[in-house]
Amino acid sequence: MNLELVYPGVWKLSFGLPSSHTPVAFRSKPPADGAFLPPAERPPLDCDAIRFEATRRGCRLELPHDASEDLYGLGLQLKSFRQTGKKKQLRPNSDPIADLGDSHAPVPFYLSTAGYGVLIDTARYAVFYCGTHHDRQAAAAAESPVRGLADSTEALYAAPTESGDPVTVEIPHEKGVELYLFAGPAMRDALCRYVLFSGGGALPPLWGLGIFYRGYVHNDEEGTLRLARQLRESQMPCDVFGLEPGWQSHSYSCSFVWDRQRFPAPDRLAGEMRKLGFELNLWEHPFTHPAAPFHADIAPFSGSVEVWNGLVPDFATPEGRELYGAYHRKTFLERGITGFKIDECDHSDYIASDWSFPEYAGFPSGLDGEEMHSLFGLLSQQVLLEECERTGIRTWSNVRNTQALAAPLPFTLYSDLYDHRDFLRGLVNSGLSGLLWTPEVRQCQSEADLIRRLQLVIFSPMALINGWMIKNPPWLQFDVERNNRDELHEDREAITARCRDILELRMRLVPYLYSAFARYRIEGVPPFRPLVVDYPDDPTCRNIDDELLVGDHLLLAPLTAEMTVRTVYLPAGNWYDYRTGERFAGSRTLEIRPALEEIPLFVKEGTLMPWARSVEHITPATRFQLEPRCYGRAVRPFRLYDGDGFQLEPPLTAWVELLPAGNGQPVRLSQTSRLYGLMD
Ligand code: GAL
Repeated sequence: MNLELVYPGVWKLSFGLPSSHTPVAFRSKPPADGAFLPPAERPPLDCDAIRFEATRRGCRLELPHDASEDLYGLGLQLKSFRQTGKKKQLRPNSDPIADLGDSHAPVPFYLSTAGYGVLIDTARYAVFYCGTHHDRQAAAAAESPVRGLADSTEALYAAPTESGDPVTVEIPHEKGVELYLFAGPAMRDALCRYVLFSGGGALPPLWGLGIFYRGYVHNDEEGTLRLARQLRESQMPCDVFGLEPGWQSHSYSCSFVWDRQRFPAPDRLAGEMRKLGFELNLWEHPFTHPAAPFHADIAPFSGSVEVWNGLVPDFATPEGRELYGAYHRKTFLERGITGFKIDECDHSDYIASDWSFPEYAGFPSGLDGEEMHSLFGLLSQQVLLEECERTGIRTWSNVRNTQALAAPLPFTLYSDLYDHRDFLRGLVNSGLSGLLWTPEVRQCQSEADLIRRLQLVIFSPMALINGWMIKNPPWLQFDVERNNRDELHEDREAITARCRDILELRMRLVPYLYSAFARYRIEGVPPFRPLVVDYPDDPTCRNIDDELLVGDHLLLAPLTAEMTVRTVYLPAGNWYDYRTGERFAGSRTLEIRPALEEIPLFVKEGTLMPWARSVEHITPATRFQLEPRCYGRAVRPFRLYDGDGFQLEPPLTAWVELLPAGNGQPVRLSQTSRLYGLMD
């Protein structure tokens, strides 16, 4: 074993002969400045107690784990939250329908309530046994829980709540591995350290915090413009308009060429959309159709197996990156496009089709199909991000697969799955692995379903309405078939008004969210995270996967359509209903029955909330008019990030303080700000 301090409070341990095809080896962003992190003098785990063994199956690591610790993370897990006592195989997959470890973003990183994090640097489908087993010698020394009879299968096979068994990680095919230990002292410090080591959290452009709308897949130029104008006429806030596969001449696989029948003049469309105040985003996946202009050139730098008759570009080769990247820059980024949705770069094992490439596929870079699957999303993002940066564009885009060290990449994950409860759990989990996730809204079962889903998506990194299957916006008709027959809902005006209120609430939060994201960039604190990160010693918080912290001052406890009542646990301190100002003492569980339009959002004691007046969309000239509100007594100043919202690398030192009233002075800003002013 070889131990090396590689970053403040981060130690690398090497065992055997590690692979060079790993997430760390392919990182594109250097670690961020760790000046804010608490000092850490020694590794957070006893390194001598970490065991490594090369086996016929690959290799295996065993890491100590105490019975009092709980473990979290492992990427975008939609089906479970607390991983203690579970087995997970980390496989990229678009249909993570069971709690097995399949995920759009399987990340081999876990966090412990004992205040440390562990990254296993592998692109293999590693299996994590999170304190499930011990070998026979250890069994002789330890006291095992006695299993009795049970009268349900759940109770019969339930994991012991406290095991103290080691975490075992099996890495197939490899003869060695490197792992990284992230010191605390607290769980939140370890998480921030991981994010900063990754390169710091992604900072959205201001427009990225507005509303995203993706249009109907069959729309042509006229239909697209009609929908865009309708959004403006109905005064629904919207900043970004996304075109779905129909913009291309071939979509599965992609030609990356406009369909000239539907879109005869792409520059004209881009110009019109810009005039209407929309950023334009294009759907694609990397599988390259023979009709793509760079198909022949990229063929030598592509994998051995095709997908949907398209090449799989090898983005681990400089040539593959350059050919794909330069084409995108010239054809799209230099002509008004500011973002992409990178679809299908995950994988599928459950669909009977030639999607995606098999694990045995080979690539010119030397990666095999398994390694490429683990890295494909990461590499695809890097290629397009580099071109955005070269063009001076600060993007806020989408991707359906990612891996470790993704925190600095401005791409938000999404899914074709649609269970509202799972989407909420995904949002709660995503921050634990430095990921961005949108619980996007599509068509709905009922008005309640639409309202409750919108109430969740506005508290996520991307407030996305994905109307790819529906001709009209969901507030005009949430039922997909009726929508596409243009049978609009009889109550559409009232429903539209309710939805507008929700979208406007998002816009009122933009200054707050922008500041939370700036802290993600600089200090590594994920803006959306579970309660356990901030309250690891509160045993109740360890199991809460249906509430989340939004920034440092807000706690959200959302409802799904079927619910009329729910319990909310408030951690220590006082909390206030954001709207009524009613006070609730913390360290207890409440039962609430919010009406459909009510959002259970609680503000922490002592907050001077920088609510803003809603704007329909954000331009470089936008100046947010603040309507601050005090929650509780002894209100503290609020630090607002004041860095330019459009330029590529805004200064990270640009902050302004919102100061509470006192000494005869009203609430005011500490200095003149470009982005914020106070309402009269
Ligand atoms: C799916 C994607 C959807 C939509 C659709 C269009 O794979 O997840 O959001 O873009 O493709 O064909």
